[in-house]
Amino acid sequence: MRTELAKQPVDATTTSAWADLSRLSGDLEPDLRGWFESDPARAERFAFQAADLYVDLSKNLLTDDVLAALVDLAGQTGVAERRDAMFSGEHINPTEDRAVLHTALRRPAGTAPALHVDGQDVDADVRAELAKVYGFAEKVRSGEWTGVTGEKVRTIVNIGIGGSDLGPVMAYEALEPYVAEGLECRFVSNIDPTDVAQKTADLDPATTLFIVASKTFGTLETLTNARLARDWLWRSLVAAGAIEDTDEGRAGAVAKHFVAVSTALDKVAAFGIDTENAFGFWDWVGGRYSMDSAIGTSLAIAIGPERFEELLSGFHAMDEHFRTAPLERNVPVLMGLLNVWYTNFRDAHTHAVLPYAQQLHRFPAYLQQLTMESNGKSVRWDGSPVTADTGEVFWGEPGTNGQHAFYQLIHQGTRLIPADFIAVAQPAYGLTDPVGDGKAVAPGADVHGLFLANFFAQTKALAFGRTADEVRAEGTPEELVSARVFSGNRPTTSILAPALTPSVLGQLVALYEHITFVQGVVWGIDSFDQWGVELGKKLALEIAPAVAGDEAALAAQDASTAALIARYRTLRP
Ligand code: F6P
Repeated sequence: MRTELAKQPVDATTTSAWADLSRLSGDLEPDLRGWFESDPARAERFAFQAADLYVDLSKNLLTDDVLAALVDLAGQTGVAERRDAMFSGEHINPTEDRAVLHTALRRPAGTAPALHVDGQDVDADVRAELAKVYGFAEKVRSGEWTGVTGEKVRTIVNIGIGGSDLGPVMAYEALEPYVAEGLECRFVSNIDPTDVAQKTADLDPATTLFIVASKTFGTLETLTNARLARDWLWRSLVAAGAIEDTDEGRAGAVAKHFVAVSTALDKVAAFGIDTENAFGFWDWVGGRYSMDSAIGTSLAIAIGPERFEELLSGFHAMDEHFRTAPLERNVPVLMGLLNVWYTNFRDAHTHAVLPYAQQLHRFPAYLQQLTMESNGKSVRWDGSPVTADTGEVFWGEPGTNGQHAFYQLIHQGTRLIPADFIAVAQPAYGLTDPVGDGKAVAPGADVHGLFLANFFAQTKALAFGRTADEVRAEGTPEELVSARVFSGNRPTTSILAPALTPSVLGQLVALYEHITFVQGVVWGIDSFDQWGVELGKKLALEIAPAVAGDEAALAAQDASTAALIARYRTLRP
């Protein structure tokens, strides 16, 4: 049932808070140096704890007045009401008329009161499906589940794309120290046949398990890759003499080497996978919000059910913070509001996410889908045009690599680029430098400490910069002074966690899920649909015959596209 609220987004630009923010922005003269000097309590006042995450907002272009107006904006646009509507299962995804209940995926067993939505006992279903995933994971890990030759699975290949790939691969990389010895996961996503070819090239089919992960089980890339993988499996097993080249032989191979994750079990069966070996989830879990559903089966096998439960408890801890903390101390609310501040009042177009943890190297890519597929919208949830800019471009790479690539632009470019710096205190691999460099780095220095010195240094440099006088005082020739000045006042948020445990990873992901939600509510958009990806998919299917040589289909294309296809055909041997 669609709620009244769902039909009527508040136009944020008509609120008094928006007017206050416009005025405050007009009057604002960013001065992080001065603000810290004149206000010794600033660092403490703008630092918050959310579950295990220490979140320092003090190096943002934020004053008490701005913060108060932002919190007012959340109040006037109904952030808390819509948050509560989400948690309780109302259909806050109006364009698809669906509840949005990824938070139900991580409710601890036995949470009261039980969650019933649209006639479904959500808690019971979630727990039953998790039990199925965990049972399967244990079988694979213990070796009870074998391939056709009776050998234990050593490699799991997850075939999926978008939300059925980015979350699992990001989490697998992040939690690599927790992966069981002797198990490896690989991830195939791209329909470029190179992806399947490279990922299977050195694999032993007898010890390989494919997981076809697709919410809809209708995604061209995933089904094509699944067919390629199935063909590779059959050919390799036949060549190895492991199966007969018969229908029974091939069906037996699929039964032991293919499982599926989907909401569309009929299509799973049509592909030839026994639905006994399929794990389900529900239409109220968006693809980009699904890594903690059965979509995480590859991860659950790799790290084991116990660690997967820890991941879920981390998600839940952040959910509880978001659900219960007052708006003015609610970290996802504050970070979402800051993003609105920069996007709509400070002319920022992009947002950098810079993890100082190598294991989080896929986190920015994961966040790109989460944030941009959610909030890249031009109409509001009632179909009317948005009234302000939405959806900043999220991007990033791990530090320190990024420092030697694109940080120049963040430090001295003409554009304002708010950045989130994320670090963990305890490294997964603690190494010392045995020799040192004879200058700054002493023998026996803790390399992770050196790494984090960069994390601290960068936000400091961005906030406080370096004045012309300071540059001169270093003996810089006058003609080079301006090139070496750093303006400072470049906003950053620092997030520090104790260690990259499964729980902390869950907290981080949930934090960004809720940040994204808050922005969507303020802008009045449906953050849970993704109609903008449909046209390209449809056209690809229409164009495919032209690419394959159908002259009539080629003639039907516009001149540019026809010329490109014709050129491709001359280049393709
Ligand atoms: O094309 C976009 C999208 O629908 C994403 O939202 C989704 O995560 C991805 O495709 C994959 O979809 P599926 O899991 O149904 O294969």
